[in-house]
Amino acid sequence: MALEPQAFIELMVKRVDFSKENKALLKLHGDWGKEIAPDMAERFYSYLGSDPEMNAIVNATEGRIQRLHQTFIQWFHEMFTGIDDWGNAYAECRWRIGLVHVRIGIGPQHVVPAMAHVMQEVSNRIKIDGKPEELQEALIRICTIDLAFIEQAYVEVTEAAVLKETGWTQGLFKRLITTGAGGR
Ligand code: HEM
Repeated sequence: MALEPQAFIELMVKRVDFSKENKALLKLHGDWGKEIAPDMAERFYSYLGSDPEMNAIVNATEGRIQRLHQTFIQWFHEMFTGIDDWGNAYAECRWRIGLVHVRIGIGPQHVVPAMAHVMQEVSNRIKIDGKPEELQEALIRICTIDLAFIEQAYVEVTEAAVLKETGWTQGLFKRLITTGAGGR
């Protein structure tokens, strides 16, 4: 796969303007993040459960939904700790999460609304708990970076699979996409 997670996170940090101040604020509220993570997980899976297709995916195998609650809680808390100050380990972890979703067949149509739901729920909770407004900005920025990883994984895996299967060059593949394979 062409994507290099460390370089990708550095680019996203700049593009999303995820600042030193955002990071410091998240770290400062790390305990709060840990405390609310189980409730955020409840809300997240209750939302996925309300959609027949997503409900079928998260309950497709024995024990999956229980495992998902635990991995979501950890994922949510890591947005506050940054693992290694949002460095290489953080990027590798987010890239892996992206790959897991692609392999299960979860696409942008599932992930984008799901992340929007996380952003909405956490924004509500910030207001209820009287947390600073700037915390909302910081969380939306890190959620956006995490979302970019999952979406980019989808693109990278698709491209790599097509190139492997067809023997096409990357240049030809990109040309076919930009020209709509000759169509409109
Ligand atoms: C905000 C978006 C999402 C986040 C942050 C998220 C987070 C995670 C994390 C942290 C894992 C564990 C990855 C690992 O094993 O390393 C995971 C796995 C998984 N996610 Fe998501 N997820 C999101 C959206 C979705 C959606 C929309 C679906 C379903 C439609 C979904 C279904 C799954 C499934 C089925 C697994 C594999 C579970 C297993 O069998 O171990 N996720 N997710």
